[in-house]
Amino acid sequence: MEIKAVIFDLDGVIVFTDQFHYQAWKKIADEMGIYFDEKINNRLRGVSRMDSLEIILERYEGSLLSQEKKEELAEQKNGFYRELLKTMTPADVSDEVRDTLAALRQRGYKTALGSSSRNAKFILERVGLLEAFDEISDGTNITKSKPDPEVFLKAAEFLGEKPEHCLVVEDAEAGIEAGIAGGMRTAAIGEAVSCEKADYKLRQFSDLLEILHEK
Ligand code: BG6
Ligand code: MG
Repeated sequence: MEIKAVIFDLDGVIVFTDQFHYQAWKKIADEMGIYFDEKINNRLRGVSRMDSLEIILERYEGSLLSQEKKEELAEQKNGFYRELLKTMTPADVSDEVRDTLAALRQRGYKTALGSSSRNAKFILERVGLLEAFDEISDGTNITKSKPDPEVFLKAAEFLGEKPEHCLVVEDAEAGIEAGIAGGMRTAAIGEAVSCEKADYKLRQFSDLLEILHEK
């Protein structure tokens, strides 16, 4: 089946905000005396803010937390995270990523962002990539986060493409699973390369140009 569109995850694929997520959650975890490390942080990739909090709270030994308190903690984490995002500039996107995105469009592929983040547009604006995608599907237009395929199915819908014509690029296992569940082809990069289910494994972002030829 011909690939006509490429849907990109954001955190860990286009930009490396995963370290900022880690630092912000680490602050919350430390304040609450909860053990949290980079390995646990890997489980948060592609997972929504509230679901991420639930994963961190698996190791919480204090008394039961109300929904209100949980929302307060998630809000606090987002405050720390956004302070870190403010330090981002166009220099935080590699030339390789910028050039590959432009080349794919030039070759006739439609492109979209498919991110669970509610901060996606803010990040794209900071790094000067708001115009780099034809469509944006993010945490503000979904009710279920990855591994549910909703964010990618919405991206395909926004692009006017059938799922089977889309390729998803992901650094999270939950994201690869979401792409497969949506009936799309998947390309793994970074942490997701160990995921056997992906159709393609990218050593680097520009490897996409070897998979997606001139149309
Ligand atoms: C994803 C990240 O892109 O966005 C997750 O991989 C994060 O780690 C999720 O939890 C939600 O992000 P935000 O910005 O809405 O808190
Ligand atoms: Mg990611």
